[in-house]
Amino acid sequence: MPGDRCPTGVGPIDQLLGGGLETDGLTELYGEGGSGKTLVCLQAATRLALADRWVCYIDTEGVSVDRLEAIAQGHIEQVLKRVLLATPKSLAEQTKAVSTACALARDGRRPVGLVVLDSATFYYRLTLSGDSEDDGRQALGRELAELVATAIGSHLPVVFTNQVWRNQRTGELEPLGGSFVNHAAKTIVRLDKLTGGRRRAVLMKHRSLGESSAEFRITGSGLE
Ligand code: GTP
Ligand code: MG
Repeated sequence: MPGDRCPTGVGPIDQLLGGGLETDGLTELYGEGGSGKTLVCLQAATRLALADRWVCYIDTEGVSVDRLEAIAQGHIEQVLKRVLLATPKSLAEQTKAVSTACALARDGRRPVGLVVLDSATFYYRLTLSGDSEDDGRQALGRELAELVATAIGSHLPVVFTNQVWRNQRTGELEPLGGSFVNHAAKTIVRLDKLTGGRRRAVLMKHRSLGESSAEFRITGSGLE
């Protein structure tokens, strides 16, 4: 049924989202470096993998197996068996990885339970300083459109992360890509760094829930 929930395993975030990541759409996590975007993705992927579902994980940041191991706590082999990891090295490779992940999800031979794109905008950001900005925008737009179609067609949750820039006029941190990225996401969560390991998740866009927030804490093995 559209709107089913897939818990991330991070209690406060699942509560904020009314049970977890919604199927049939994209959830965007944005926030400054170290705010916990990758940790939430790793946690959700681990949870799905331990439930014997396949996860297509597109990682542009070179996430180490150490981090997954800390979260998987003794079950890393089982997790690695179910996580199909792609590590693109350019925006063009990222686009191919998105297509491959979508094809795998549609194909249905492996029961894919989640697609992760972390980060959607690392390579896109590099196009902003040159004359390939339009190409970057088009590539990212096509990727997000393919992910939306797959989320709906295969009844899947898809989560992508986004980096931020400081709007000099307002002083606020804003997600990259502007309105076309924000329109692609059905749900948007901003992650804020508080003091120490404390983090705040703020629900910025949701089709049925109002703006609200929740706090969580980063520990040695992940999140609590
Ligand atoms: P960017 O990808 O840089 O935008 O950050 P992010 O929002 O993805 O943050 P991430 O989830 O990587 O990090 C959240 C917190 O996890 C950091 O503040 C660190 O405390 C911790 N962390 C980051 N890297 C590591 C790591 O390699 N090992 C462990 N144990 N903790 C890490
Ligand atoms: Mg990250």
